[in-house]
Amino acid sequence: MKHLLDFQGWSKGSLENVLETAKVMSDVLDRPVKKVPALQGFTICNVFFENSTRTRLSFELAARRMSADVLTFTSATSSTTKGESLQDTISTLEQMRVDCFIVRHGASGAAHSVNKFTKAKVVNAGDGRRAHPTQALLDAFTLQQRFGSLEGLEIAIVGDVRHSRVARSNAELLPKLGAKVRLCAPATLLPRELEADGVTLTTNLKEAVSGAHAVMALRLQLERMNTGYLPSLEEYRATYQVNSKTMKHARENALIMHPGPMNRDLEIEGDLADHNKSVILEQVRNGVPVRMAVLYHLLVGKS
Ligand code: CP
Repeated sequence: MKHLLDFQGWSKGSLENVLETAKVMSDVLDRPVKKVPALQGFTICNVFFENSTRTRLSFELAARRMSADVLTFTSATSSTTKGESLQDTISTLEQMRVDCFIVRHGASGAAHSVNKFTKAKVVNAGDGRRAHPTQALLDAFTLQQRFGSLEGLEIAIVGDVRHSRVARSNAELLPKLGAKVRLCAPATLLPRELEADGVTLTTNLKEAVSGAHAVMALRLQLERMNTGYLPSLEEYRATYQVNSKTMKHARENALIMHPGPMNRDLEIEGDLADHNKSVILEQVRNGVPVRMAVLYHLLVGKS
């Protein structure tokens, strides 16, 4: 594959291969020397037009763990502040013999645009509300590590679905791997067009969570909201917060997930995020081997 923009063109088998490689990479990271020469000679450029902690640093570490050279571009300190376009920025960086661009941008479709501007490989690290495929892969990896397989799992995803690229990517990926997804939000934050094979929508939190193997809370993306989506944050908290009361409706050993960053005590009860059933930090940890696997498959291919 030339790119990972979303999961279009990625078969179930190829996605399973990436998850298998992620397991191998995870084992590498458990060794005293956490480094392999797999990407020696390759240059990877992080191009981030939006802030990030987890995704940017885990891609950077993933590339370094495989001995690649890494460039990091942040828009605030770049010549885009002088008016340089996205296309000119990518063409300029490509001349430095970049083999792979990792792109985060606030505009939906920006990673597709970058893919048109370059012959290098492109990974979407989150574009607007459209897609965040490596987050969904690390979520799938986390579920697979805990349950052995995604086949037959029921996953509730609760929160600001409208603005969530994580929800869209998980709704695309998890059913491909055999899980069922229930998206839950107030009607204003629940786009009907997301209903699909293996994906159901509900505004009822109890219905979403009942019998779920995992409950993933989504951040309320207040920075992307105009007024009018919610009557008040207090009402949202009272009706949709994922908390210990909510989890009583899920399976006994249901996992608590959140892609981060969290608004503690808003979309998720702070204590629940730290509960022993929470895999929120495990999701972060799994980000590195999963991103190593993605880079490996794009740049080297599976041997
Ligand atoms: N989950 C996620 O994308 O987090 P960052 O914005 O910190 O990368």
